[in-house]
Amino acid sequence: MSSILITGAEGQLGQCFQAVAKEFTKHNLFFVSKKTLDITKAESLEKVYHQHPFEGIINCAAYSKVDQAEIEIEKAHEINEFGIQNLVTFAEQKDLFIIHFSTDYVFDIEERMPFKEEHATNPLNQYAQSKLAGEKVLSKSKCSHTTFRISWLFSPFGNNFVKTILKLSNSKEEIQVVNDQFGRPTYGIDLARIVLEKLTLANFFDFDCYHYANEGAISWFEFATKIIDFSESVCKVTPCSTSEYPTRAVRPSYSVLDTGRVENHLSLSPSPWENALQRCLKRIHYK
Ligand SMILES: NC(=O)c1ccc[n+]([C@@H]2O[C@H](COP(=O)([O-])OP(=O)(O)OC[C@H]3O[C@@H](n4cnc5c(N)ncnc54)[C@H](OP(=O)(O)O)[C@@H]3O)[C@@H](O)[C@H]2O)c1
Repeated sequence: MSSILITGAEGQLGQCFQAVAKEFTKHNLFFVSKKTLDITKAESLEKVYHQHPFEGIINCAAYSKVDQAEIEIEKAHEINEFGIQNLVTFAEQKDLFIIHFSTDYVFDIEERMPFKEEHATNPLNQYAQSKLAGEKVLSKSKCSHTTFRISWLFSPFGNNFVKTILKLSNSKEEIQVVNDQFGRPTYGIDLARIVLEKLTLANFFDFDCYHYANEGAISWFEFATKIIDFSESVCKVTPCSTSEYPTRAVRPSYSVLDTGRVENHLSLSPSPWENALQRCLKRIHYK
């Protein structure tokens, strides 16, 4: 049985790992929230390790406020870059592995072809720049490590698009959603399951980056339409353009991830996003 620390446990993805933890008795999972372990503080890691030694870290801790990062640039880097440096330094000292998560927002390019892991990055906003900086820190590290780049994370937990649309549809007769940004939704529960299932494979750490998302590339408008449809709401969804709905941080218009590497190398096939959405809505309903 391997003992694994999961940081950022109260965040959206951290809660997804908590939700599936009981299915993976082969791992001894040890969840810590920011209150117990601040990844920007090296002494905080040492203290937790001393109380509860572990062999690896699944890092769900992050600064994830995409628009706010345009203002809090230093804070975003402190957590998403220097926090990762702390984890790396510690992991190298103790010979631990690190599994980390990053974002599709590291990409933007005119050509509309799904992005493979080795494609040139071009982060358009501060959040994505800080996440890319964290990826680079980890990729240089000597410990066993890999980063899962994921996109449009949703789940029954925390803040995400599915929950926002459900909330809006309860209070509004009509909502407008952008129809000119394309990506692949990632169901956090599926992601947590595949990480915990596959991490014991001998070839898991062969690559320092994998792209993972559920099957199917869509616009936010298509995503919202299905959420409304599956939840049997009468709220009307109308498409709009990004220029009609400006946000502080620029988002890529096309950041579809190619998941071929993870599918072939770790023998998995992500379920279609509609199926994942239905499972998520069921969990939200019966939570
Ligand atoms: N959400 C998405 O659509 C999306 C898309 C692509 C990639 N990702 C990536 O997926 C990962 C998980 O995202 P998420 O949606 O679960 O984010 P989240 O809900 O914001 O969770 C992050 C957690 O980390 C905690 N945290 C912040 N600073 C910390 C620190 N210094 N030390 C320890 N914990 C700290 C946060 O606590 P507080 O909330 O109290 O600050 C929060 O509980 C992140 O790496 C994110 O960049 C997310």
